[in-house]
Order: sequence, then structure tokens, then C-alpha cells
Amino acid sequence: MTTLIKNGRIVTATDDYVADILIEGKQIKAIGKDMAVQADEVIDASGMLVMPGGIDPHVHLDMPFMGTSSSDSYETGTRAALHGGTTTVIDFILQKQGNSLRSALDEWNGRANGNAVGDYSFHMAVTDFNENTKPEVKQMIDEGITSFKTFMAYKGALMIDDRQMIGLMEEVKNQGGLITVHATNGDMIDYLIQKHREEGKLSPLYHYLSQPEVTEAEASERFVDMANYTGCPGYIVHLTCEGALNAVRNATRRNQKIFVETCIQYLVLDASLYEKDFDGAKWVMSPPLREKKDQATLWAGINQGLVQVVATDHCPFKWEQKKMGEKDFSKIPNGHPAIEHRMELLFSEGVSKGKITLNKYVEVASTNAAKIFGMFPKKGTIAIGSDADIVIFDPNEKHTVSAKTHHMNVDYSGYEGWELSGKVKKVLLRGKVAIDNNECKVSKGYGQFVKRNKVKQII
Ligand code: URP
Ligand code: ZN
Ligand code: ZN
Repeated sequence: MTTLIKNGRIVTATDDYVADILIEGKQIKAIGKDMAVQADEVIDASGMLVMPGGIDPHVHLDMPFMGTSSSDSYETGTRAALHGGTTTVIDFILQKQGNSLRSALDEWNGRANGNAVGDYSFHMAVTDFNENTKPEVKQMIDEGITSFKTFMAYKGALMIDDRQMIGLMEEVKNQGGLITVHATNGDMIDYLIQKHREEGKLSPLYHYLSQPEVTEAEASERFVDMANYTGCPGYIVHLTCEGALNAVRNATRRNQKIFVETCIQYLVLDASLYEKDFDGAKWVMSPPLREKKDQATLWAGINQGLVQVVATDHCPFKWEQKKMGEKDFSKIPNGHPAIEHRMELLFSEGVSKGKITLNKYVEVASTNAAKIFGMFPKKGTIAIGSDADIVIFDPNEKHTVSAKTHHMNVDYSGYEGWELSGKVKKVLLRGKVAIDNNECKVSKGYGQFVKRNKVKQII
């Protein structure tokens, strides 16, 4: 099967030109001007942007968490991702304390295998690092799971202490992997949650007030220092605020490479949403939304090259699930749905409003994640030999976000009624048209596991 995409404006992290793309099977075979070749299918992309498929390296599909499970399965979540131009996601496996990494991998494979519509990979969250799990680090890397997640928060559930962190960092470094972190101070947060509960302060606003900026700044600095000491490459997930980014800025002064991810919600939403009584539960996530000054810091951080990735931390819960915390904010399942709208929101709020360039857009929505997580150049770019994961995007079409029309398995949207500029028109995944004018053309089982390479420091 051959496909020819004609006359599109091809935008990668570095290039911007009008040309044709010839796809043979699953991969890009040739790129050229006015190519005179026959193809089984011809797509006219005149006036459209043609960009690499998005990569969202931070999602939680079908994840058991806080007494319930995130509401998108691999099928609904990866399908919604495709609708929004994201062709590959990286999900988090959670080790159960006392159990092996292997058993956690088996559990996640059971949920993902044969169910995904779009491509996916895994990070391994290590919640119990000990002599038994240490040799499993290499085994996971051999399976193509080359990044290891740690939680410095969620005390009593997922959190590890600094002793385990250092031990894990040493092993991950020795085996050529990458350590990623939810960097907030779990003990401080635990103290503040208890204090607010004892004072009868139980609304969603107190979720926000239990995780002040200092909890994230302190943990980020501690993580960065431990990574520097051990020499382990580090990646901070869902960084939200000025204080935490300053910790990274300091690390770059000593020439330490620390990768930073923020999420779309921290760029476009702020903490005033927690003043809406229980409605604020829609945005109860950890870390919480921050201040306008933090949004400005994050946009600047993207342009300064300090923030390399814009993800979602997609972790949806239906309204009934959110209501588990109606009487106590600490019982509201933490997380927010965004897998479908990341690319369009970032384009509309970032590119259309002049905050970032088109090349930067591709870099933070796709290419950098592919490079950092060992998938480049198979994923994350438009080049000869790369997977034909391609988004055809109309930069001028306007549309409105609504839970009535989105494809995520959740009954509200954190962006209800937002009018966006720029719309995904077609998405190809490994050479196949997966989305065509709001219709999904591939079925569950089409999505494949992406085995990732060891970390190379190429950005
Ligand atoms: O609120 C969040 N972020 N839920 C998902 C788990 C995590 O911390 O990433
Ligand atoms: Zn987290
Ligand atoms: Zn997360």
C-alpha cells in the first residue's frame, strides 16, 4: 500500500517547507517537490500543516488509583488521543509495594495488549526499591522500558524515600536508563492535608492549599541534587511553577542535564478555578493548578529550552468518581482529562497567540519526547525511514471543545466551551489513515507497543 500526501506545509522541529510525502507500507519512503509517482491513495494537503504525530509521554489509562480506576481504557484513551493528533502515548505501570516489577508489567500488559487503538509504551513506576527489584531494572530495559518513575509524594501509597531514590538512581544510571519523578514533598503535603481536615477545611480549594509552591520547589531541588550526585539522567514530570523551574535553572548553571515536562493545563489554566466550590474537583490534580505568574514562567521556560515537553498527565475520572470526595477534598481522585485536546490547545493558545513558534510546537508536542524516551527517529519527526505517523492540520479552522463531542470516556471537560483555532483533520498511524474528519478508521488492537532504546543525551 502506498500513499502520497501532496502539497502540504511540512513542519518538523527544525524545518518548514511545502513538499510531497510518499509512504510505502508503514514508513516514509520519500519526500520531494511535485513528485510524479503513482500511489494507491492520494491525499491533497494544500493549505494544511503536515506535522509528526504527537507524543504524549504522560498518561494514566485504566489505572487503579485512590480507590477507583481512571475511566479511559487503552481503547478509549488511545482513540481519543488519535482524534487529537497524538499517535503515541507513554503510560505508567505501578509496582505494588512488596511485589515485583515483572508482576506489575504482566498486569499492565493484560490491560493494554490487544486493546490499544494508537501506539503506546510504558514507564515503570518503582514504589518499592529493594534487593529483589534491583536486578529487575536491567530486565525492564531489555523489554524496552527504559524510564523509571518515582513518586516523592502520595505518602503511604506510592512514595519512596530518599534512600530508595539514591539506590534506584545508581542502578538506573548503571543500566543506561532514565529516572523520572513526581517531585513534591510528600511529608509536607501529608501534614497540610491532615491540618486542613482537622480544621474542617474540606472543599477542593484545600487540595490546592495543601500543595503550595514550596512543596514542589523543595522536592525538585532535592531530586536534581540527588541526580547530580549519582550522575543519573533525570526528567521531572508535570512541573508547574516558578520555584521548581528555578531549581532546574540552577542545575543547568552547573551543566547538569535535567529534562522538564509541563502539562497543557498548567500553561492555560490557573488556581482561581478552585474557588468554584465542588465544581473545582474537575481540576483536582497533583500538583494543583498554579498562578498566572507560573504560567508566564512555563511559557518562557519552553522558549528558553528549559522545558522540553508538553504532556497531559491524562488521568480522567467521571463526575461520580470525583464525588467520592464531595465531603473531603483528600478523597477526590486526583487527575484531569486532556489526552484529546493537548495538541489543539497548545496550537491555539501557544502558536496562534504568538507565544511559541511552529517549530517549537512540534519540538515540545512530539520530537523531544521521542528523543528523550528513546524512540527517535522512528517516532517524532517526518523523515525518510521514520514511521508514517502524520497529522494533517488546518491552522485556521475554529471549533469548540465540549464533553458532548469529545471521545474521552469522561462526562465533563475541563475546557467546556473553549473556542480553539486550529483543528486536526487527518491522522496517519504507521501509514494507515487512523482519523479522517472526526471519524476513527482503525480498530482496537491496531495500536502497538513501542519498545524503546536506552537514553541518549541528544537534546
Ligand atoms: O493528579 C494526578 N496527577 N494524577 C495522576 C497521578 C500523578 O501524580 O501523575
Ligand atoms: Zn504525578
Ligand atoms: Zn501522572
